[in-house]
Amino acid sequence: MVAELVSGVLEGLVKSPVIAARDLSKVYRMGSVLVHALRGVSLTVEHGELVSIMGPSGSGKSTLMNILGCLDQATSGEYYLDGSEVSRLNDDQLSAVRARKIGFVFQGFNLLPRMTALEQVELPLAYAGLPNRRQRALQVLEWVGLADRVSHRPTELSGGQQQRVAIARAIAVGPGLILADEPTGNLDTRASEEIMAIFQRLNYELGMTIVFVTHEPDIAAHTRRIIHLRDGELSSDERNLAPRLAYRPSDNGRYA
Ligand SMILES: Nc1ncnc2c1ncn2[C@@H]1O[C@H](COP(=O)(O)OP(=O)(O)OP(=O)(O)O)[C@@H](O)[C@H]1O
Ligand SMILES: [Mg+2]
Repeated sequence: MVAELVSGVLEGLVKSPVIAARDLSKVYRMGSVLVHALRGVSLTVEHGELVSIMGPSGSGKSTLMNILGCLDQATSGEYYLDGSEVSRLNDDQLSAVRARKIGFVFQGFNLLPRMTALEQVELPLAYAGLPNRRQRALQVLEWVGLADRVSHRPTELSGGQQQRVAIARAIAVGPGLILADEPTGNLDTRASEEIMAIFQRLNYELGMTIVFVTHEPDIAAHTRRIIHLRDGELSSDERNLAPRLAYRPSDNGRYA
């Protein structure tokens, strides 16, 4: 009994952060000009955190998200994802890590134009070689409130619904980490609030770690932690003790 307790405590103590980034820099070369997009960003995100990142246009938010999401690599610095160093992986190894551990959500939804919602969500399940794809995809779409839209193509869906399909696609394989670059940037207030409701439910009910970028203070107000970037540097990292709630737990997942 005591041994179990001790090992439980130890496990908690040694569990690695989801994100441990040290001194990340990113330099883009444009002909003979060097653009310093990130200048030594260090950031730790623990399991189960919901974090927003803000900052002026050009401050390096997307650059940072792309590196954290293993879509790109830093010029220098170290990045550990779930305790494993990813800063030195090659492209194939990076895509394998991405497919297994990270769900990425984009401002422009990035859905495939000809596919139905169901097919979009089945796709990552097929790549991962998982069984019961149809059933799993239907469950996830229902979870984001789209049970009655599974046969719709992107042009037959509203922006908010398209983003919910994109979130369903991102969470389908069960990654521990969701990264989203301005997920509400193309949406009106109501649809944005629905996306925040889904993020909060994924975080509070399923324990997913979520980091997203936003320009809007009202959207950032939904997270307990708000980070600011400025000129490629982390300029503040603040606690929000009273995050706005976008859902009532009794809602039971319906956003008609
Ligand atoms: N592929 C690239 N090649 C060259 N420079 C780039 C590239 N991507 C970004 N940059 C530059 O790096 C800097 C940071 O860009 P980034 O896209 O990360 O900013 P951002 O904070 O996401 O801005 P926004 O709020 O407008 O999306 C900018 O000065 C940008 O011009
Ligand atoms: Mg950006």
